[in-house]
Amino acid sequence: MQLAQSLLREELIVFEKKFREAVKSQTPLLDRIMRFIVNRKGKQLRPMFVFLSARLCGPVNESTYRAASLVELLHTATLVHDDVVDESLERRGFFSTYALWKNKISVLVGDYLLAKGLLLSLDHNDFRILQLLSGAVRKMSEGELLQIEKARTLNLEEAVYFEIIRNKTASLLASSCAAGAFSTSGDEAVTEKLNRFGEAVGIAFQIKDDLFDYGDEKTGKPSGNDLKEKKLTLPLIYTLNTVSKPLRRELIYIIKNQNRVPEKIKYVIGQVVAAGGIRYANEKMNHYRDEALRILYDFEKNEVRDALEELVRFTTDRKY
Ligand code: IPE
Ligand code: IPE
Ligand code: MG
Ligand code: MG
Repeated sequence: MQLAQSLLREELIVFEKKFREAVKSQTPLLDRIMRFIVNRKGKQLRPMFVFLSARLCGPVNESTYRAASLVELLHTATLVHDDVVDESLERRGFFSTYALWKNKISVLVGDYLLAKGLLLSLDHNDFRILQLLSGAVRKMSEGELLQIEKARTLNLEEAVYFEIIRNKTASLLASSCAAGAFSTSGDEAVTEKLNRFGEAVGIAFQIKDDLFDYGDEKTGKPSGNDLKEKKLTLPLIYTLNTVSKPLRRELIYIIKNQNRVPEKIKYVIGQVVAAGGIRYANEKMNHYRDEALRILYDFEKNEVRDALEELVRFTTDRKY
C-alpha cells in the first residue's frame, strides 16, 4: 500500500481528523464506544479507493472528503452489525463491539453510525453520492440476508455464492470508487466505469477474506468462523462439487452436525486443500483482480493509476 499511502498522505491525515469529528456524540456511553472504534481503525482501504478514484478524475475537494467519511461510516456500521450476526468476538486484533457490549448496544451503535453518514451527506446536499452509497447499503443487507438463508439449506451453488459476495462486499467497494469519481468529475460515464472497477476489486477482496477463514494466519479476526456459521464459501463449494459422493456426504454431515468440533473442522479443511479448493478460489480471485486491472488500464498511466493498481494487488496479496 506504500504508493497509495504516500500519494494520499495529506488526504489521509485530514480524513482521519474529519472522521473522528463525524462520529462524536454527546451521549457518554456512545462517545466512549465511538472512541473505542476510531482508536482501532482498520486498513482504510475504502477511503483510499475513494480518494484515488477521485484523483483519477481531478483534484480532491470537500465532497470527496465527505464521500470518504460516509463510506467508512457505513463500512464500520456494517462491521459492528456483522459481528452480531456472525457471533464473532474478534475484530481488528481486539475484542469486537459485540464481544464487549453485546447485541443491544451493537445494534444501536451500528444504527447511529449509519444515521451519522446519512446526515453528513444530506447536510451538504451530496444527493448523488448518498444515492450511490445507499444503493450499496441496500445490497449489503440483501447479501447478508441471502447468506443466512443459504446457510440454512447449505448452498452448493457457485452462482449463489457470487451473488452473495457481490451484494454484501463488492457493492460498497464499487460505490466507493464511483462516489470518488463522481465527486471530482460529475460525469456519469466515468462514475459507472469506476463502479465496475470497484465491483471487480470487491469480489476479489471477499474471496481473499473467505480464504483467510481456511488459514491460521493472524488476520485480526477469528478463522474457522465461516464453517461454524455454516457459511459455505468458494473453496468448500468447489470441493463439495468435485469430490466423490461418499466424501461429499461425510463433509456435509460434519458441517451440519459437528461444525463446532475443532478436529472435525480441521478434517474438512484438509479435504478442501486436498481437493484443490484453495487453489481454485485463488484462481477465481485472480480472475477478478485481472478484470479490475483491465478496466483500470483504460485510464492513462500516471502515479494515481499506479497507486490504484498497487491497491488492487494488495487486495489479493494481503496478509490481513
Ligand atoms: C472486512 O473488511 C469486511 C469484509 C468485507 C470482509 P476490511 O478487511 O476492509 O476491514 P477493516 O476496515 O480493514 O478492518
Ligand atoms: C463481510 O463478510 C461482511 C460485511 C460485508 C459487513 P464476513 O462476515 O466474511 O466479514 P468478516 O470476515 O466478518 O470481516
Ligand atoms: Mg463476519
Ligand atoms: Mg470473513
